[in-house]
Amino acid sequence: MGMDGFEEALRQSAQEVEQTLDALLPKPVGAEARVLEAMRYAIFGGGKRLRPFLALASAAAFGVDRRSALRVAAAIECVHTYSLVHDDLPCMDDDDLRRGRPTTHRQFDEATAVLAGDALLTFAFEILAEPETHEDPYVRCELVARLAAASGCRGMVGGQMIDLASEGRALDIGGVTRLQQMKTGALIAVSCEAGAILGRASPAHRSALHAYAHDLGLAFQIADDLLDVEGDPEALGKAARKDADAGKQTMVGLLGIDAARDHARMLADQAIIHLEPLQDRTELLRQAARFAIQRRS
Ligand code: IPE
Ligand code: IPE
Ligand code: MG
Ligand code: MG
Ligand code: MG
Repeated sequence: MGMDGFEEALRQSAQEVEQTLDALLPKPVGAEARVLEAMRYAIFGGGKRLRPFLALASAAAFGVDRRSALRVAAAIECVHTYSLVHDDLPCMDDDDLRRGRPTTHRQFDEATAVLAGDALLTFAFEILAEPETHEDPYVRCELVARLAAASGCRGMVGGQMIDLASEGRALDIGGVTRLQQMKTGALIAVSCEAGAILGRASPAHRSALHAYAHDLGLAFQIADDLLDVEGDPEALGKAARKDADAGKQTMVGLLGIDAARDHARMLADQAIIHLEPLQDRTELLRQAARFAIQRRS
C-alpha cells in the first residue's frame, strides 16, 4: 500500500468516526444548547482523525468488534478536540484559525469554548464507561484509567503546562523530548493501546504497540513543529510561523530544520521496527508512521 492508499484508508475511517460522533453527541436543544453547538462545531468540519485511525487499526489487529472500536476512537477524538479548543484560547496559544475555520472561542466566546472543551473531555469518559463500549466492565475501567492518565497532569495537561512555562527558556533535548512525549505522545500512545486493551492482547503485543506509539508520537510532534516553520497555512488550516516568535521550545528550534527532520525520520523508522512482534497485522500502522512525518497538514 502506497501513501495514496493510506490516505484513502484514513479518509474512510474518518467518515466512520464522524458518523459515530454524530450519533453519540447530544443534539443542541434546551437552554444549554449553545455549549452543545460549540462541541459539535469544534468536532466537525475538519481534522485528520489520526488518533481514531490508530485506535481502529490497532483494534483491527486484535480482531475487535468494529462498533466497540469506533466508540473508543470517538472518545479519544473528543479528548483530542478538547485539547485543541483549550490550546487555542487567548490564555494559551491565542489562535484564530483551526481546521480551516475560526477557533471555537472566536466563533462563540471564551466562556463557551472553555465549557465546550470541559464537556468534550467528560463526554469521552461517559462513552467509555457505557456497557455498549465493551461487555467486560474490567476492560471499560482499564480504558477509562488509561485515557485519564494520558490526558491529565502526567500526560497531555502536564505537557501543555511545560510547553507554556518553557516559552522563552532554553530546554535541552531531554527536556523537549519529555515535553513532547507528554503533550502529544501520551494521547497517541493511548490511541494505539486502546485496541490492544479492547482485544485483550498479550503483554508482549501491548508493549510492542506502546513502543511503536512512543516513537510515533514524538515523530508526529516534530512534524507539527516543522510544519509551523515550512508549512502552508492554507493546507494546515491553522496559522504557521508562530512558534519561534512565541519562544516555544521545539526540536526544530533546538536542532535546526534538517536535523529535526532526520530525527523525526529516525523515530518513524524505529516505530515501525517495534511492530515486528505483531508480524503481518500492522500494514496500516506502518503506513501511519510514514504519514506522520510526510504529511502536509
Ligand atoms: C494538532 O494535532 C495538535 C498536536 C498535538 C500536534 P493534529 O495535527 O492531529 O490536528 P487535527 O486533529 O488533524 O486537526
Ligand atoms: C498542541 O501543540 C498539543 C496539544 C496538546 C493540543 P501545538 O500547540 O503545537 O498544536 P497546534 O500547532 O496549535 O495544532
Ligand atoms: Mg500549544
Ligand atoms: Mg497551539
Ligand atoms: Mg504546533
